[in-house]
Amino acid sequence: MVVIALLSLLAIAGHVHAQPAPALQQRISAAIAAAANATGDIDYTQFVNPFIGTDNFGDVCPGASVPFGMVKITTDMTGYAPAGYVADNTQFIRGLSATHDSGTGSSLGTYGLFEIMPVECPSGFNSCPTRIVDRQRLRKNFTDNAMPGYFSLTLDNNVQMEATSTRRAGLERFTFPPSTARSPHFFVLDFQQDLPQSFKGGSMNIDPQNGRVTIGGFWGSSFGPGSFAYQAFACYDLLNGGSQKLDQYGIWRSNPWGLNAKLLGSTHLNLSQSLIGDTNYESGALFSFARTSDPIIIRVGISFISADQACSNAETEIGGASFEQVHEASRAAWNERLKRIELNLAGTPHNITEMFYSSLYRASLTPNNATGEAQGQFFGTSAPYFDSLYCSWDTFRTFYPLMTLTSPETYAEIVETYLDGWRKRGWMPECRANNLPGWTQGGSSGDVIVGHFAINYHNEAAALGVSLDDISAAQLADGELNPPEWDIEGRQVNVYKQYGFVPFDVLDPSSVGRQTREGSRTLEYVFEDFAIRQVALLRRDNATFTTYSNRSLWYRNVWDPSIKSDGYKGFMQKRRPDGSFAFEDPVNCSPNDQNNSRSCSLQGNNIEGMYESSSWEYSWFVPHDTAHLIELMGGNDTFVKRLDHFFDAGYYLAGNEPSFQTPLGYMYADQPHRAVSRIRDVVFTNFDITAGGLPGNDDQAAMATLLAFHLLGLYPVPGTSELLILSPFTPAYTVHNPYLNVSTTVTVTNFDAASVAKTIPAGASAFVHEVRVNNVTTPSRCAFDFYDTFRVGGKIEIILTADENEALGCAGPVPQSVSTGGFASVR
Ligand SMILES: *[C@@H]1O[C@H](CO)[C@@H](O)[C@H](O)[C@H]1NC(C)=O
Ligand SMILES: *[C@@H]1O[C@H](CO)[C@@H](O)[C@H](O)[C@H]1NC(C)=O
Ligand SMILES: *[C@@H]1O[C@H](CO)[C@@H](O)[C@H](O)[C@H]1NC(C)=O
Ligand SMILES: *[C@@H]1O[C@H](CO)[C@@H](O)[C@H](O)[C@H]1NC(C)=O
Ligand SMILES: *[C@@H]1O[C@H](CO)[C@@H](O)[C@H](O)[C@H]1NC(C)=O
Ligand SMILES: *[C@@H]1O[C@H](CO)[C@@H](O)[C@H](O)[C@H]1NC(C)=O
Ligand SMILES: *[C@@H]1O[C@H](CO)[C@@H](O)[C@H](O)[C@H]1NC(C)=O
Ligand SMILES: *[C@@H]1O[C@H](CO)[C@@H](O)[C@H](O)[C@H]1NC(C)=O
Ligand SMILES: *[C@@H]1O[C@H](CO)[C@@H](O)[C@H](O)[C@H]1NC(C)=O
Ligand SMILES: *[C@@H]1O[C@H](CO)[C@@H](O)[C@H](O)[C@H]1NC(C)=O
Ligand SMILES: *[C@@H]1O[C@H](CO)[C@@H](O)[C@H](O)[C@H]1NC(C)=O
Repeated sequence: MVVIALLSLLAIAGHVHAQPAPALQQRISAAIAAAANATGDIDYTQFVNPFIGTDNFGDVCPGASVPFGMVKITTDMTGYAPAGYVADNTQFIRGLSATHDSGTGSSLGTYGLFEIMPVECPSGFNSCPTRIVDRQRLRKNFTDNAMPGYFSLTLDNNVQMEATSTRRAGLERFTFPPSTARSPHFFVLDFQQDLPQSFKGGSMNIDPQNGRVTIGGFWGSSFGPGSFAYQAFACYDLLNGGSQKLDQYGIWRSNPWGLNAKLLGSTHLNLSQSLIGDTNYESGALFSFARTSDPIIIRVGISFISADQACSNAETEIGGASFEQVHEASRAAWNERLKRIELNLAGTPHNITEMFYSSLYRASLTPNNATGEAQGQFFGTSAPYFDSLYCSWDTFRTFYPLMTLTSPETYAEIVETYLDGWRKRGWMPECRANNLPGWTQGGSSGDVIVGHFAINYHNEAAALGVSLDDISAAQLADGELNPPEWDIEGRQVNVYKQYGFVPFDVLDPSSVGRQTREGSRTLEYVFEDFAIRQVALLRRDNATFTTYSNRSLWYRNVWDPSIKSDGYKGFMQKRRPDGSFAFEDPVNCSPNDQNNSRSCSLQGNNIEGMYESSSWEYSWFVPHDTAHLIELMGGNDTFVKRLDHFFDAGYYLAGNEPSFQTPLGYMYADQPHRAVSRIRDVVFTNFDITAGGLPGNDDQAAMATLLAFHLLGLYPVPGTSELLILSPFTPAYTVHNPYLNVSTTVTVTNFDAASVAKTIPAGASAFVHEVRVNNVTTPSRCAFDFYDTFRVGGKIEIILTADENEALGCAGPVPQSVSTGGFASVR
């Protein structure tokens, strides 16, 4: 999702926010410098900057989380803050809360339930500020801090809030300035308000004897139908194993128009959804501690099943462990993930090390592992269950391919989640947001996600608990069965199959959905069909293979050869049932579009035929058959000129997923050296180590994993085992696959750190001259196969040259395309 990418381009200019603490970068830089000479175990969490992407609409959550944690604890801010936190120090803090997503662009925010906020009450209980607008505060500048498994923020009254977590629970520590030692510490606990203001009823109960507050209720989706609701529960334990004592407690309820009531000593709230639509009402608990304890430590458990389960999650996952013990366990879990790719730390430019490990960190931050917490149709499922598949259109391109290198056991769990979606609902999830079906973006991109797993791990699938029969059946459900409402799952395949494209202005008598994005939906459906073809090839299912091979060429059906733009001819366009094209200017919805009021996303009045993209951008999207796209565009020379123009004229959007593979286009025209230079430029123009260092929403680490591949000098073709070879930003790295028990070391001969720059300086060696796998030169220097490399382990040598003339062409076949006989077999 790229919701406000265009806006974000405007927002970059100039401002520097006063967060996070400068000490954070100093600490990371010192750790990277020291690691150059380190011997023994390296603590990779030291190199992670969780704040990258917390400004410039990156929507990254810097909160305390374990890998794939269901709980991510951070503060919720006012303003546009979908992940709760933003670095922007002009925004106010509403409270600390335990459920968040990372990198999603949902305009109203996602989760942010059950905020807790320390408040000042000069005249006791009845003077406490409770509503968000009353209790919110600014932070102290230059004090925010975080590392994997830990988050800290200090309010402008010097109260420090820290958090650490397990999968479904956390500890929150509040440290008060000495000046307040004599006053009781009051806290507001918010019962109703989540970030999107979607409360649909629930109840809260205070048990003063045991110092326990339980909350449960229903809330709405952040990116899906408003009529859907999910349930969530929290269990707050306030006594820190008996070392803290409650003083006063009660409940409150308020609205913006004068209701500001508190009931001291009351313990119960039970509210149904306001049918008249009063989302502005707020309520919760208010309590204080006897003046004996400082800091105050509060334990929180979360569940999607019941309040009892929220309490037992906290008891079993944290019990009586200290803040430091919980943080240490989280750090160990993160290291176990991060060390799966070891960079040569001595030779890698320091900013690259920080960007890489921060990206690898976010590559294991989401989706949220809610196994054992499935609700609704999934209640009690025996399959692993992940929340926040948000959305598959974003993650199929690089997120799952990166997981393929190191973590098939995790990938298998998520594949089972997709398959279970098909078992329970008839179609795989496209976008699961807040445990609910979210809006479909391009079609059923889950087909590519499960297909990529099948192609790369079919030998291990059964041992990993994944049935290839089920993968195939789930893909075919998406590919053949038109759901009644394809905005939430599946695709509009009836008309697609009838016409060979998704037509504009078609009368669809049997299903509903937003009848827009016909061009881009066709292109995405076609690539999903290619993934189905691949699995059919694997399974020797000839009939399916034949049908879906044909369908994987249907991108040709939305190619209008007559359209011209900037002197280039032929663009993808929406098309009517009678075969005529419905013209829209290919510049529309690009950064060069002069019209700011155009709808380019999911809006009903997006008439452009494309989703979150221009036709200039989406016309490159044929990752499995670029050879034929080159022909359509007029041959290699025109294709390369058109690519150069696309980048130089500013049509490219690094932060938009359909653009991810575009810089690789040069390789298909046998000009790999141009891809190398272009990707240097893309990385240094769009990514850095600051809070604003992402080109828009991280999109659940879609952006992080794109960057990780660029830095490693690799690029995956989803649905295949082919990897394109580029120029690494590091002299050497080792990829460990603990499940396969193999390690692969890539060494970059003639690596020149001076080439790791936006423009490769003359004389700096950066272009790929030769590639050797276990000392055998590969048939092409542009691509190799996962089965010959990272699956089996060993040594890969990428030999660079400074002389572009020594790096012209692939010195062998260009990367594969279906129409030139590529992808004819699977390994
Ligand atoms: C690492 O070792 C090299 C050579 O022994 C030395 O020059 C450098 O100062 C050391 N770096 C650090 C951070 O200790
Ligand atoms: C933080 O710095 C900004 C200037 O960037 C200033 O306007 C603001 O008052 C400061 N906030 C606090 C809490 O001191
Ligand atoms: C809340 O009230 C409803 C009736 O409005 C009742 O059915 C429900 O049991 C109550 N829930 C709790 C937890 O008290
Ligand atoms: C998800 O949680 C389940 C239950 O604790 C666990 O078995 C599984 O390993 C977890 N998976 C990941 C990727 O964290
Ligand atoms: C392939 O698809 C086209 C529609 O683009 C259709 O006309 C044709 O019959 C199909 N061919 C086969 C062999 O199925
Ligand atoms: C599938 O196609 C292959 C190659 O064309 C052929 O050898 C095989 O017999 C076919 N299998 C079936 C079941 O039709
Ligand atoms: C801008 O786009 C909107 C929506 O398509 C359209 O209504 C409006 O006329 C356009 N404005 C200009 C100046 O072209
Ligand atoms: C483009 O170049 C490749 C590699 O040299 C070649 O195989 C292909 O035929 C060329 N394509 C066209 C349309 O000329
Ligand atoms: C590292 O990143 C920072 C922040 O973006 C930048 O100011 C600095 O110039 C970079 N250093 C190098 C050597 O690229
Ligand atoms: C992994 O490989 C190493 C080295 O080849 C071997 O010693 C070890 O037993 C293997 N472990 C497993 C679980 O296969
Ligand atoms: C690698 O291959 C070359 C010949 O291509 C040979 O001279 C060299 O000894 C080999 N190196 C190793 C480590 O096997």
